[in-house]
Amino acid sequence: MKPTIDVFEAIGTLRAMRRSSDEPVSDDDLWTIIEAATMAPSGGNRQPWNFVVIRDPETKRHIGEYYRRAWDETYGKLPAPPPSSSDEGLGRAYRSAEHLAHHLADAPVLIMVTTRGAGFGTSPTGSSIFPAVQNLMLAARALGLGSTITTLHRMYEADVKKLLAIPDDVETMALIPVGHPRGRFGPPRRVPVEEVVFWEKWGTTRGRKPAE
Ligand SMILES: Cc1cc2nc3c(=O)[nH]c(=O)nc-3n(C[C@H](O)[C@H](O)[C@H](O)COP(=O)(O)O)c2cc1C
Repeated sequence: MKPTIDVFEAIGTLRAMRRSSDEPVSDDDLWTIIEAATMAPSGGNRQPWNFVVIRDPETKRHIGEYYRRAWDETYGKLPAPPPSSSDEGLGRAYRSAEHLAHHLADAPVLIMVTTRGAGFGTSPTGSSIFPAVQNLMLAARALGLGSTITTLHRMYEADVKKLLAIPDDVETMALIPVGHPRGRFGPPRRVPVEEVVFWEKWGTTRGRKPAE
């Protein structure tokens, strides 16, 4: 059994890991992370997910091409934040996403997560998929693998579905490159919890301890 990490450590160190080494991802690890995904909650326990595991270099290349086109037509058109951007995090995130846009096919594995059917009852489409996606990424993190949730391919969804023989009534929700991460990752930059929690009424914030 591989050593893994505590759930809070996995949550606190989960980053968008967009650069991976050539080291292959084992089938065993893939089963483990996808099984973790299938443990997620879903509306009415319908479990509308499927996972298409893509290792074939030619298929990855095709998907990578659609992905890069989608990038070029959206974020790629925006002025890139300068390397010494005052918001360094933003500059880094842009360059990291830009790198992925040009190297998606280099990831040893791509996992396409799909949903059968649209939203159900009061649940919006996707709400029964993203808990599974998060489980998958946390499990990958716990095994020392890097991953990123991506959605840009959806600009070319019809083409990508055709490539993967995905039926008409199935929608692609997220494309997750998985590999052994390259680079160094600090903690996620997030707005402090104290600023996003309201107590009793919208807008009422306080520190962790009521007296603060
Ligand atoms: C719904 C959703 C869609 C995303 N789509 C993309 C994407 O298409 N390409 C990409 O590089 N990152 C994508 N991301 C990753 C976010 O950019 C990333 O999680 C965010 O910048 C935080 O990064 P960090 O955890 O490294 O701080 C997506 C994230 C979410 C939740």
